[in-house]
Amino acid sequence: MTTIGIEDYGFATGSRRFELADLAEHEGIDANKYLVGIGQEAFSVPTFDEDIVTLAASAATTMIDRLSPDARDSIRTLIVATESGIDQSKAAAIYVHELLELGPHVRAFEIKQACYGGTAALATAQGIVARHPDERVLIVATDIARYDPDSSGEATQGGAAVALLISASPRILAFDKAQGLSTEDAMDFWRPNYRTTARVDGRLSIQVYIRQVLSAWDDYSGHGGRPFTDLHTLCYHQPFTKMASKAHLKLARHLESGQTPSDLDAQLAPTFRYNRIVGNSYTASMYVGFLGLIEHADDLAGRALGFVSYGSGAMCEVFSGEVLPTYLKTRHTEATTAMLDARQPVDFATYRELYYGYPNPTDGSAFETPHDTSLPFRLAGIDHDERRYATSA
Ligand code: CAA
Repeated sequence: MTTIGIEDYGFATGSRRFELADLAEHEGIDANKYLVGIGQEAFSVPTFDEDIVTLAASAATTMIDRLSPDARDSIRTLIVATESGIDQSKAAAIYVHELLELGPHVRAFEIKQACYGGTAALATAQGIVARHPDERVLIVATDIARYDPDSSGEATQGGAAVALLISASPRILAFDKAQGLSTEDAMDFWRPNYRTTARVDGRLSIQVYIRQVLSAWDDYSGHGGRPFTDLHTLCYHQPFTKMASKAHLKLARHLESGQTPSDLDAQLAPTFRYNRIVGNSYTASMYVGFLGLIEHADDLAGRALGFVSYGSGAMCEVFSGEVLPTYLKTRHTEATTAMLDARQPVDFATYRELYYGYPNPTDGSAFETPHDTSLPFRLAGIDHDERRYATSA
């Protein structure tokens, strides 16, 4: 059977950083509600010339540049997963394909199921590589999470993109065959076409998330999945890091795993490093957790990792894989650290202006964006409902 897994990856996030302590100050509440209660410290804020397309292309570009010409030509599928898309019809993948200068013979499309979309792309990619082991599939999970100002969701915003190269010659992680699935119809979080911000029932969303995780886990076990305690670390979807802790505890109890609180923490906390300061990145969030883990843990070779991918509405998939020894030479810790450290801090007023005042003309009028991003690609402007993208150089 063909081994399929992650060969390489890329990561991008918004160029500005907003501290949740400043949101707490605006609200006149104790900052520990955010720092401790939901386990978040800050979130990334996109500039006016950043959107899900520029984040996606910026995440993928360095990885594409690292490939040999033959390996580059073997990318015949590009899937962009997002739930904050910029067009109801044209796929963000077409714009990303153009910015990355991939050849014409590529199947490029967008995929959606709330925060689960990145994993839907991954499952699709594995099927394609199983059928054509000589091909590579580029998947990019990219999102900017937006809730109404002064809503309870405001603290759980953020944005990022993670690009993964899926192939039959993995260097980071080899996927197991077992996959656990669970779907139910729930109105916990959704965004009708006419809205720019999500609707959410926060309490219900937590309940549905946990219910779905238990159901998907049982299905994973029933399909030959690894025992819970064999998993060195689990990467959960992380709208906020405390959500992963809640779900992990419930799952351990459901399985009567007998682990101590510190065992459970050890199985989870290393995935929080980036999410705590990037915020919710919807489809990318679980993969941001995975990058935070592999870029800072040196003892993962041969270890089994679990993945718990949840998307409201609702769908959950549990899967697993084994870390390959070559991950140590393939990871890009310094580049990620430099990108995260380069984000400029913004105060409350600037964050609000960037987050809610971004260009979104609905009357066909023209808008030129100032050049503010520190990422390789930018949204140069919008004119007659057409988005114009450019390189930042
Ligand atoms: N010190 C320490 N902890 C404090 C505190 C303080 N001073 N003040 C409050 N807390 C704790 C609370 O006890 C609570 O902890 P528990 O849940 O463990 O009891 C926590 O901080 C949060 O407090 P509240 O429940 O009062 O917070 P809230 O109701 O204002 O908002 C939220 C929380 C509902 C998650 C809200 O942020 C939200 O709606 N977020 C968006 C929805 C979401 O992320 N849902 C997650 C599941 S859905 C999903 O995963 C898909 C997706 O990406 C959206």
